[in-house]
Amino acid sequence: MQPVLDGTVALVTGASSGIGAAAATALAAEGAAVALAARRGDRLEALAADIRDQGGTALVLECDVTDEQQAVGAVERTVDGLGRLDTLVNNAGVMLLGPVVDAPLPEWQQMVELNVLGLLYCAHAALPHLLRAAEDGPRQVADMVNISSVAGRAARLGNGVYSLTKHGVGAFSESLRQEVAKRYVRVSLVEPGATATELASHNRREVLESIRSQFGQTMAAADIADAITYIVTRPRHVAVNEMLIRPTEQER
Ligand SMILES: NC(=O)c1ccc[n+]([C@@H]2O[C@H](COP(=O)([O-])OP(=O)(O)OC[C@H]3O[C@@H](n4cnc5c(N)ncnc54)[C@H](OP(=O)(O)O)[C@@H]3O)[C@@H](O)[C@H]2O)c1
Repeated sequence: MQPVLDGTVALVTGASSGIGAAAATALAAEGAAVALAARRGDRLEALAADIRDQGGTALVLECDVTDEQQAVGAVERTVDGLGRLDTLVNNAGVMLLGPVVDAPLPEWQQMVELNVLGLLYCAHAALPHLLRAAEDGPRQVADMVNISSVAGRAARLGNGVYSLTKHGVGAFSESLRQEVAKRYVRVSLVEPGATATELASHNRREVLESIRSQFGQTMAAADIADAITYIVTRPRHVAVNEMLIRPTEQER
């Protein structure tokens, strides 16, 4: 049987680790040619080699999506190198937790620049290509999957600005979904709970120590990749708007 995403092209941001790497692998296994965007080129090269070993097609895009030109460049290089763009997985993100009082402002700036602006730059640059793919692509439908978080549903003590950025991703996604629904670009929101990746490791030591006690059961990045793959492989008339996924034991 022909893989569902055969002939399509997916761009995954934050593909050098965690959920992005797992998503790129999973989409390639479904037949998509994948463009891999992140700052660590060596990690992307290793992932691209794995995907090619499995018979897939992968393009490495070393870039920083907080830089508008580089984000636009990632989309353009995808279309130049792979011929089109059917799927954008807007995944690159950072989570820097801790109290608001006396928080280091550069951490807030980093989260807003990546989780909000980086995602918006990629969305803006990708949309004309996604709209075109929905018109003339092999599947007559295109997808933007934006990665939010449980923190995009509920704010908790200690996650104020991270939660702010993810609530913003949710609001933007729903508004854009309504705007492009009739043109067959599906905009989906994925809201993972605790997933074992590098995400928490970027926190200051004192924050890590205080959140370590909250670490419980985790999902694997592949579990979230599964959800992303499910969303983008639905038939043309089915749009999965939102998916909230927690480890079974996670209560909040
Ligand atoms: N893990 C969880 O528990 C969890 C829960 C809810 C939501 N999420 C969300 O899931 C998404 C993926 O996170 P993850 O858990 O897979 O964490 P991760 O392993 O830390 O991956 C983050 C990815 O973002 C990339 N990135 C960081 N800054 C970038 C930049 N300026 N330009 C381009 N790429 C950049 C990183 O690559 P480079 O460093 O190579 O650039 C990396 O590939 C995030 O949006 C996160 O908020 C994760």
